[in-house]
Amino acid sequence: MDRDIYDPAFVKDVFDRCSDRYITFSLICSMGFTERWRRQCVAAMPAPRPGGARGYDLMAGTGEAWPHLLKRFGDIGAITAVDISSGMHRRAMERLHAHRAHRIEFIEDNVLASDLPPESADFVISTFGLKTFKPEQHAQLAALIARVLKPGGVYSMIEASDPKGWWLRYLYLFHLKVVLPLVERVFLRGAQDFAMIGTYSTNFGSAAGVAAMLRNHGLQVEYSRYFFGCATGVAGRKLAE
Ligand SMILES: C[S@@+](CC[C@H](N)C(=O)[O-])C[C@H]1O[C@@H](n2cnc3c(N)ncnc32)[C@H](O)[C@@H]1O
Repeated sequence: MDRDIYDPAFVKDVFDRCSDRYITFSLICSMGFTERWRRQCVAAMPAPRPGGARGYDLMAGTGEAWPHLLKRFGDIGAITAVDISSGMHRRAMERLHAHRAHRIEFIEDNVLASDLPPESADFVISTFGLKTFKPEQHAQLAALIARVLKPGGVYSMIEASDPKGWWLRYLYLFHLKVVLPLVERVFLRGAQDFAMIGTYSTNFGSAAGVAAMLRNHGLQVEYSRYFFGCATGVAGRKLAE
């Protein structure tokens, strides 16, 4: 029987298996674009309140967004990272960010079933965490963001997308759907986990749907396309009443 690739338990397994190689693979196979897009995602976020802002990094992975976040907003008080994958969690805290541990808390949880408290965040950031959700799950995520942000709170999210209309689109899709799975099979002893990431990205389309959902919750939304639409993002603010 075919498995539901949007079942959180399935997604957790994929990332648990990828976690040891995730950073290297993502950096090399995107030719540095993922790092650039994380930086641009942080740059697109309006400034959170100064002096000790607290917020969430949703689908935090191994904490790839934190250096960018803490570089741009040095006075952030605390980041609570949420991720469903134990492998990503372990990698994040053991080795990569031990020196930042005093400002970071990690919650291993499914954001779609999250009971994060209302109005508890000055900011919400999320890099490359949208693609493993289908539209109903994006709606749940949009509701969560609207709920957890304090009035005046800010957010930014980015995701690899399908660059529809770009003349090199087929080359990009070839890279995602053929080259990456091949590299993985050859260099990672037949694994097929990163091949799944290509499938998720092309199914995702763009962040335009998420932008509309956030607007429906009354959030201010700026929609952006990066590098001919190979990534798209949303950023904005929950307006103070
Ligand atoms: C492609 S990685 C992105 C990691 C990181 N933010 C980055 O910039 O590379 C997607 C992450 O989303 C997490 N994830 C997927 N579904 C989730 C869910 N329902 N709840 C929490 N985390 C989830 C995965 O475990 C994985 O670590």
